[in-house]
Amino acid sequence: MAIWNLGSINADMIYRVPHLPGPGETLAATSYARFLGGKGANMSVAAARAAAHVRHIGAVGPDGGWAVERLMEYGVDTRHIRSVEVATGHAIVAVEPGGENQIVIYPGANRAIPEALIQAALSEAGAGDTLLIQNETNAQVLAARLGRDLGLRVAYAAAPFDAGAVRAVLPFLDFLILNAVEAGQLEAATGLAPGVLPVRDVIVTLGARGARHFETVSGETREYPAIPVTPVDTTGAGDTLTGYVLAGLDRGLPMAQAIAQAMRAAAIMVTRHGTADVIPDLKDVQAGPPV
Ligand code: RIB
Ligand code: NA
Repeated sequence: MAIWNLGSINADMIYRVPHLPGPGETLAATSYARFLGGKGANMSVAAARAAAHVRHIGAVGPDGGWAVERLMEYGVDTRHIRSVEVATGHAIVAVEPGGENQIVIYPGANRAIPEALIQAALSEAGAGDTLLIQNETNAQVLAARLGRDLGLRVAYAAAPFDAGAVRAVLPFLDFLILNAVEAGQLEAATGLAPGVLPVRDVIVTLGARGARHFETVSGETREYPAIPVTPVDTTGAGDTLTGYVLAGLDRGLPMAQAIAQAMRAAAIMVTRHGTADVIPDLKDVQAGPPV
C-alpha cells in the first residue's frame, strides 16, 4: 500500500542561537545550515525512512529542483510534485541550546498546488492507501473529501494549528495527530476533548510526558511514556513521529507498535541538528535512541 502526502516543501534555514530572540532584538547565530524541511517533506521522508511507499503531492518554485532531488534521494516518489511560478517555500528557524525553536515560514509554492494535480494524483490511489495532510498547503479540504470518497485512510496532522482548517477537515478524518497545545486549542474551538472527537484514532503528543492514543470507538486510551534524551533540536521531531506512525500502520504494524517505534524515531530526532536530512532510518530506530 502507499501513503499519499499532500505536503509542504521548504528550504529550512536553521540558526543556532544562544537564546530565542525577543521583540526588537538582533542576535548573532553561532552556526547556520540549510536543510530540506517543511512539515510535509519531513513527514514524507520519515515515512520513507520507515520503509513505506510514499508519494508526495506538492509544489516548488523554479528554485526548488534541489529539494525534489533530495526527496527522491531519500526514497520519496516525487512524480506528483510540480514546479510553479512562485518561489519555493522556506522557513527561518532559530534553535536555542535546549532544543526549543521559533519558526517563521514563507509558504510560497506550498500554497499554489494545482487542484488538478491533487485530483490526478489521487485517482491513482487504491483503497487501503493512506492520505496525509497538514496545514502548510492549500486544498486540504478538497483532498480530505476526495480521500474519504476513495476509501483511503485520511490522516491529518493539525500543524501549524488553525481552528477553521481543523473544523473543515474533521468530518473526513480517520486519524488525527496533534500536540498538547493544539489539542487544547481544538477543544477551545469545538468544545470537544480529543477522546470524543468524531475521528477513529487520535494521538496527542505530550513532549517530555510521552503520548496518548485515544481509540474513540471503544473509548480506550493508551499512554506511551516518553523516551528520555537530551534534546539539542526539537525541529521536525513531531513530523518524524507522524511519518513513522503512518508508515508503521501502512506496513501492517498494530497501533501500539507503530506508536512505540515512532516515539523512538522522534527521540532520536531531537538529538540531531536539522530537519528532513537527518531523520533516522529504521535501522537507527531499531538500534535505539542514544541515552
Ligand atoms: O515542523 C518543522 C517544520 O516546520 C520545519 O521543517 C519548517 O519548514 C516548518 O514547516
Ligand atoms: Na532535529
